[in-house]
Amino acid sequence: MNQASDQARPTPRAGIMDIEAYVPGKSTAPAGVAKVHKLSSNENPLGPSPKAIEAARDVAAKLDIYPDGTARRLREAIAEVHGLNPANIVCSNGSDEILGLLAQTYLAPGDEAVITEHAFMVYKIYIQSAGAVPVSVQETNERADVDAILAAVTPRTRIIFLANPNNPTGTYLPFQEVRRLHAGLPRNVLLVLDGAYAEYVRRNDYEAGVELVAGAENVVMTRTFSKLGLGGARIGWMYAPMHIIDAINRVRGPFNVNATAIEAGIAAIRDRAHVERSVAHNETWLSWVSEELTKLGLRVTPSVGNFVLIHFPEDKKHSAAAADDYLSARGYILRRVSGYGFPNALRMSVGTEEANRGVVAALTTFLKS
Ligand SMILES: Cc1ncc(COP(=O)(O)O)c(C=O)c1O
Repeated sequence: MNQASDQARPTPRAGIMDIEAYVPGKSTAPAGVAKVHKLSSNENPLGPSPKAIEAARDVAAKLDIYPDGTARRLREAIAEVHGLNPANIVCSNGSDEILGLLAQTYLAPGDEAVITEHAFMVYKIYIQSAGAVPVSVQETNERADVDAILAAVTPRTRIIFLANPNNPTGTYLPFQEVRRLHAGLPRNVLLVLDGAYAEYVRRNDYEAGVELVAGAENVVMTRTFSKLGLGGARIGWMYAPMHIIDAINRVRGPFNVNATAIEAGIAAIRDRAHVERSVAHNETWLSWVSEELTKLGLRVTPSVGNFVLIHFPEDKKHSAAAADDYLSARGYILRRVSGYGFPNALRMSVGTEEANRGVVAALTTFLKS
């Protein structure tokens, strides 16, 4: 761009226009489809807690009043359920926001942040927004590789973003591996453990990160309410050492969690029966979907989340794109994941029984076609 046009209108900082905007999962089917099953954003097929719906309704009459800027009651409810100190929690407008705030606070132009090959895409966006350099490292068998991450650390590295389990693969690192990763990092490098799917993991060797955060100065754990029925309310949170809480509280918007989100969130997290029902539903249907799709001859990455990554055959007729069109025409909306380095796979959220059976039945006929 020449100088004249530079002055003709405001221009974003260097690097901003290199960012590829996040493309959310589709939510609509082609015209004429009678019933849509949205399986593209890892939402809860059981919906929100009825108690959260009621709490959100009750807030409606008080929408003229600003929320509590520290979301104290929400932090206390989270702390109570997870056995944490509420002072070590910051709430956010979805966990996306807290990931962005961490990047904004700890990355300067030219710094590096390490992500893995098939990492959640938002990390790269926030790293680039901060003017820093995303360093992507290879995974092994679609799982984060601790040695590869450690090998990528340089004197410029400031953050490691690790989703555990990861989206869109659904794979996870056992706690021993996370501990080994942390032990190998310089103490000035921040390890961000993104536990967006932590509630769904049913493995004895998994830990979302509470223990590590409590015992270190350079680890934070981020979590979300989105996968347990409140994606639309936008509630995330971070558990972190006090010096990080202090820094983030200086940077975040003063009322970053809205009044409806606060009340719905408090009701939702206290409704343990709804959480348990949601997790039990997922446990049953995650294994059912994985097994049935495997029986069809499709490779499914072993997942501990509330979704599966389905790999399609190489022939064009049965590719992921063809399957996506076939499923969409029948109302089953899955997620294309080319942007995540999987041009021939689809991610499917575990849905209702009807949706799960419907996808398997549709793929059975699709593969015979
Ligand atoms: C790994 C991971 N982290 C964070 C998020 C962000 O969730 P939210 O901003 O809804 O809390 C998601 C959502 O898809 C995710 O998959």
